[in-house]
Parts: sequence; C-alpha cells; structure tokens
Amino acid sequence: MAEIDVAVARPGETELDVLAVAVPEPATRLPKAAAALDERLDARLSALVEAGEISGRRDTATVVHSETDGARRVAVAGLGPEVDVDADSLRTAAAAVARRAKEFGGTIGWILDETLPLPPAEQMRAVVEGVLLGAYDPGRWKTMPREERRIGRLVLVTEDAELGQAAERAQRVAAWTNRARDLSNMPPNELTPARLAETAEEIAGEDEHLSAEWLGPEEIHQQGMGALAAVAQGSHNPPRLIVMRYDPPGATGDTVLGLVGKAITFDTGGISLKPGQGMEDMKHDMSGGGAVVAAMGALAELETPVRTIAVVAATENMPGGGAYRPGDIITAMNGKTIEVINTDAEGRLVLADALWYARQQGATHLLDLATLTGAMVIALGDQYAGVFANDEPWRDLIVEAGEESGEHIWPFPMHPRWRRYVDSDYADMKNASMYRQAGSALAAAFLQEFAGEGPWAHADIPGPAFLSRSRGDYLTQRGGTGYGVRLIVELASRIA
Ligand code: BES
Ligand code: MN
Ligand code: ZN
Repeated sequence: MAEIDVAVARPGETELDVLAVAVPEPATRLPKAAAALDERLDARLSALVEAGEISGRRDTATVVHSETDGARRVAVAGLGPEVDVDADSLRTAAAAVARRAKEFGGTIGWILDETLPLPPAEQMRAVVEGVLLGAYDPGRWKTMPREERRIGRLVLVTEDAELGQAAERAQRVAAWTNRARDLSNMPPNELTPARLAETAEEIAGEDEHLSAEWLGPEEIHQQGMGALAAVAQGSHNPPRLIVMRYDPPGATGDTVLGLVGKAITFDTGGISLKPGQGMEDMKHDMSGGGAVVAAMGALAELETPVRTIAVVAATENMPGGGAYRPGDIITAMNGKTIEVINTDAEGRLVLADALWYARQQGATHLLDLATLTGAMVIALGDQYAGVFANDEPWRDLIVEAGEESGEHIWPFPMHPRWRRYVDSDYADMKNASMYRQAGSALAAAFLQEFAGEGPWAHADIPGPAFLSRSRGDYLTQRGGTGYGVRLIVELASRIA
C-alpha cells in the first residue's frame, strides 16, 4: 500500500481537498478552532449543528463544500461525549475523516485545537495514527479493487512548526503498524515461516544497525530446541527461528531489550484438531511474531538508543503422519521435559525455546507477545491484551506504555501456587490441563519456567491483535491490527 505523506503547515499555507476539525458531543458549543472556522464559513457549521446534521457523535464526519482556508471542503468529525474525549476518540474521528476522504482523495488537512483536553503533540499523534490506520485496506487480494481515490497527504494545521518532527515519528510508527497488519492478514499459503524470515531479512537490509538471521530445522534440532521442533514436525513448511539484532551506535546503559514473538503461521490445533468454524482466522496466530519483526524496523528507523534482540519462533501447527501427539514427552532447550497434553497448546512450546534462547543471547529485559489463549479473549475481549510478569515494575512500565500508545494492556497476577497447574505425573511439566480454570494464567506459569533470570513479561494478545469484527473505532476493519508495534516503540523509548 502506498504510504500517506505527513507534514505540518500554518493555516491557509497549503491547498487542501478537505480541512477537518474535531467536535465533541453535543456540538452545540463548538470548540475554539471549529468556532473560528464557522465564522469564516458564515455560520454554515452552526446552522448544520442546529439542523442536527453535525452532532459530534463518535465516528461521524460531516462534509461541506468550502471556499475558505485554501480548502475545497470542510469536514466536522465527531469525538463523542465531551467527558470521554481521549486519544482514542481523536484517532476514531480522524479515521472517520480518512474513510470519507476516499471519495475525493488528495490532501487532508487537520486543525489542531489547543482547547481540546489533549496536549497538541498528543492530538497530532492521534490524528496521524487515526488517518493512517483508518485508511488501511485489508482487501489486497481482490482483483477488482474498490473505486477509491488515493489519500496522498495529511497536513497538520498548527502555528507550532516544532510539531513537525513528532508528526514524522508518528507517521513512521503508523506505517510499521500497517506493515504488521499486512503480515497478520496475509494468507497462510503466502506467509510461511520461510517467508516471514525473508521479510525480517528485507527489513534488516534497510538499516545498517539492524541484522537478521535464522535457524532452520537442522539448527533448531542441534540447539536442542525440542519443543519448537515437536510443534514443527507435522508440517511440510520448515520452521524458522528468526533472530534480529538492533545495535544502535548511541546505545545507553547495559539494557538489552529482548522481544520474543509467537509466529504460528497457521494453527490447526494439530492432532488435537480445532473445529472448522472460523479456523481461517488462525492465519493470524503469527501476530505476536509479526509485530516483533515490524517493531524492530520501527526501532531502527526511529534510531531508538536501546540495544534490542528479537527472537521469533515461526512454524505451522499441523496434523499428519509426522505430527507430534498428545502423550509425547519432549525436551526443551533448557533441559526441562514436557508432557504434551494438547497439541493445540503449541504456542507455549515454541515460546519456551524462544524465550530461553533470547536470554542466552543476552537479553536483560524480556517481553514476549503471543496470541496464546482463547481464555484471554473471553476475559478481556478485543479492547485489551493481558500481561503477566515476574517483575512488577517491568509489568507496570508495559501497562503504561500500552495506555500511552493506544495499545491497551491490563495486568494479571502470577501466584507461585499456580505452578501446580503445570505439574505432570511423568515429566517436569505438562502443556495443558483438563481443568478449564485460569487458562491464561496456566500458560503464563508454564512460560515462566523458560524466562531465566531477570525481568520477563508475557503479553497475551489474541483479542486486540486480530478483530473478528470492527470495534467501531479507528481500526475500522475486521482483521489484523498490528498490535504491539506502537506499544514496543513506546516501551523502548521509556527505557532509553
Ligand atoms: N492460537 C491459539 C489461541 C487463540 C485462540 C488465538 C483464539 C486467537 C483466537 C492457541 O494456540 C490455542 O489453541 N490455545 C488453546 C490452549 C488450550 C488447548 C490449552 C486455547 O486457548 O484453547
Ligand atoms: Mn493452538
Ligand atoms: Zn496457537
């Protein structure tokens, strides 16, 4: 997809196809920027407010023709109830404008309003994200694309030229987020483990401080990664353990951020086969790994001064004559033996080896991202991911980065007594239990055994990583969201 260019300009400085302004609900009291625009439009906006055509309702954009401010049209975007106005409502308003703007294409302008309850820099970031993420089209494989005009440019209208740098940063982060969305939406016949590894290599090739390499089936076996190897053995598409390294010249301190991703390019459940209904969505079981790969590109492009290593375990989970079985006992890279109870609990197996490997490679602070449990979707739905950690300050930092970035994540407890959830009668541990209690916590208790020494956090992300239907916000479509890219960028900038 062609990228949307982002710039900052003073009022009236650029020709615009549409100039947008945000208005809370009720629209009867227009905020400063909208009121000033209304004056230049001879009170046409307030007339529309009176007529009920401009309401300020969430996710609406009213477009009128205009001869002012160098703009052919003016769009009034609804923010929803005034008390609830936050960055998400502004992103949603911006996405509504982007959707309408596909009718005429060209350049979108957006007036920042210092009287809204959000600082201008945050408004700007929200508008850039809303437009760029809202304009995303998942229908890349249609041979007859929808009749749409291209949005080429977004201009943030403000007197503060300083905001230009932040606008560019937001544009880059949003573009990497869309790249991660592409990976989640790609069909599993296209995005195989090998193809994901090639993507990592391509991304690394674009930046001199970034490198990518991968281990194939033989090396995975040689390294003793018996858990990853077991999941992979049922597939004709060979696995890849993808390793990316970002070594910024100005790295500060001894911190090595370790990002670990689950990348099951298709999860059938294996011998413990999933039901057919909705199985096509299991192409996105690589979303954690996809976000990690894209986030590495973002960190390098933004020159974030934190040494980072990414380890992404990529494989399919297939049934077949060569597949691993319930009852199998396998040995992970750290020497622990695991009784397989359910082959559909494959994510924790591949992560076990990836986490251990990342720690061996020198990661001081680990964060894994994984579409790990259906139970997390039952618990939190699609608005929040859940985070478990062995270290509270590390967990809190991730929760804060989530709030700040718009990729919301909620803390879950870990309790030492939960280790018994994964006790096996035959081996050191088992990968699933017959009891349906606290399924996400059980998975976290399992992973903790492979996290080694030092802070580790596990983000269970299936709900917000891939929407089964629109959330009615700026991620206007069903499908991949790129969840994790914005959170990782924010987290890394906080530890820099
Ligand atoms: N990839 C799934 C989890 C998932 C479920 C992701 C729904 C997205 C939407 C994972 O591999 C899985 O199958 N988990 C099982 C674990 C169980 C067998 C212990 C689950 O959650 O049912
Ligand atoms: Mn599974
Ligand atoms: Zn899975």
